[in-house]
Amino acid sequence: MSQVILENVYKSFPPRKGESIASENQSPVLSSQKSDAARERADSVNNVLRQINLTIQDGEFMVLVGPSGCGKSTLLRLIAGLEVMTGGKIWVGDRLVNDLPPKERDIAMVFQNYALYPHMTVYDNIAFGLRRRGGATDQHGWAENILVGVTKKLPKGLRYISAKERVVDEQVRNVAQLLQIEGLLNRLPKQLSGGQRQRVALGRAIARNPQVFLMDEPLSNLDAKLRAETRAQIVKLQRQLGTTTIYVTHDQTEAMTMGDRIAIMNQGKIQQVAAPLELYNYPTNRFVAEFIGSPPMNFIPVEFHAPLLITHPQFRFTLPEIWVEALQKYDKQTLILGIRPEHLILSVPATKNLPVHVDLVENLGNDSFLTVTLAESEFPSRTTANYLQVRVPPDRLVSLGEQIWLSLTPDKIHFFDPQTDLAIYPQSSSTMPLQK
Ligand SMILES: Nc1ncnc2c1ncn2[C@@H]1O[C@H](COP(=O)(O)OP(=O)(O)OP(=O)(O)O)[C@@H](O)[C@H]1O
Ligand SMILES: [Mg+2]
Repeated sequence: MSQVILENVYKSFPPRKGESIASENQSPVLSSQKSDAARERADSVNNVLRQINLTIQDGEFMVLVGPSGCGKSTLLRLIAGLEVMTGGKIWVGDRLVNDLPPKERDIAMVFQNYALYPHMTVYDNIAFGLRRRGGATDQHGWAENILVGVTKKLPKGLRYISAKERVVDEQVRNVAQLLQIEGLLNRLPKQLSGGQRQRVALGRAIARNPQVFLMDEPLSNLDAKLRAETRAQIVKLQRQLGTTTIYVTHDQTEAMTMGDRIAIMNQGKIQQVAAPLELYNYPTNRFVAEFIGSPPMNFIPVEFHAPLLITHPQFRFTLPEIWVEALQKYDKQTLILGIRPEHLILSVPATKNLPVHVDLVENLGNDSFLTVTLAESEFPSRTTANYLQVRVPPDRLVSLGEQIWLSLTPDKIHFFDPQTDLAIYPQSSSTMPLQK
């Protein structure tokens, strides 16, 4: 078990067909002026990872989360040694592994598609890495090899089993017991369900007892129920084994429920690293605020008037005192107000409340979600739609087309700078610094 340190890691791939600078310049108009912009765009396309600085503590469960294409798998592949870095350093424990081939990094990776050997039984799939490893148990090699060879054709009970194979057998059975797949050891992968295959793939990684587990969306092929079960099982196992784990997902439920900490990525950069609830309560920018939480946070452009007045064509209210200092430089300017669906409360007509029109009602049984439009907004914004999402108690019946009033929970309001998208917090709140 070890900590993993990523220091200033960069990765770029060579330009792909159709993304080359030359093809950007094919337009006859202004081709010389376009070249810089085109080059910049090509750079940003190919710089898949930029300035990744991240320390995963010994025994920690770190979740890497972000939208498709943001570079999660590439980062895991760099750590595993399956891809070459463009720049930076990676340490596993106290070893700089930059120049070490994958098998010397003492890392086990579980892929999304399981990658089991189809012609091998579950037993042999789990034993494969252990048998290849060799080491101390090989010391009686040649004599045992003869005995193994001579007795190979005999019935099972009469065959000679080498010391190494006895160790392998013990490990395979331990892991099988841990994952409750003892009954499946003699089956081939094609005779297993998706969830069972997934457990075998995990078993193979666990059996190697590596310093670090890397898992790349290992649950994405499972149905919802199995996903939830396996999710809990992986967390329990990781706690039991205490192995440093980096787990990639784009599913925010997995991120929130599994990780000790979450590193949230966008376009090849880490946006924020924090414990799940810290990310939810104190997102560092609009991207994080929108990505964590389902349905996502609502954003409403409002005008601020120092010391504490917020105005919008449809409502106005006074903020709590704690905001005075943080907002004073935004006097008479637009701010982006952020509010989560669960913090908009069904209320009564009042100037401080939002008058909305109900466009959609989704009753999930335990929860009810409304999509509403802020009535007659005269505050058009290029980036913010007029509709809001609201979570309401399922026993409060709201009908389609109804006009309702919503109040904002005052201590759950977020603000974002409209230029930088960075979150603004009152001095007393804790904030996580953005990784530049
Ligand atoms: N071998 C490659 N050559 C060129 N570009 C690549 C290569 N592998 C990945 N990319 C690009 O790098 C970017 C990041 O890819 P990556 O697979 O790391 O994303 P991801 O975050 O894992 O996405 P997903 O959630 O869809 O799995 C993508 O734009 C992808 O097209
Ligand atoms: Mg991926």
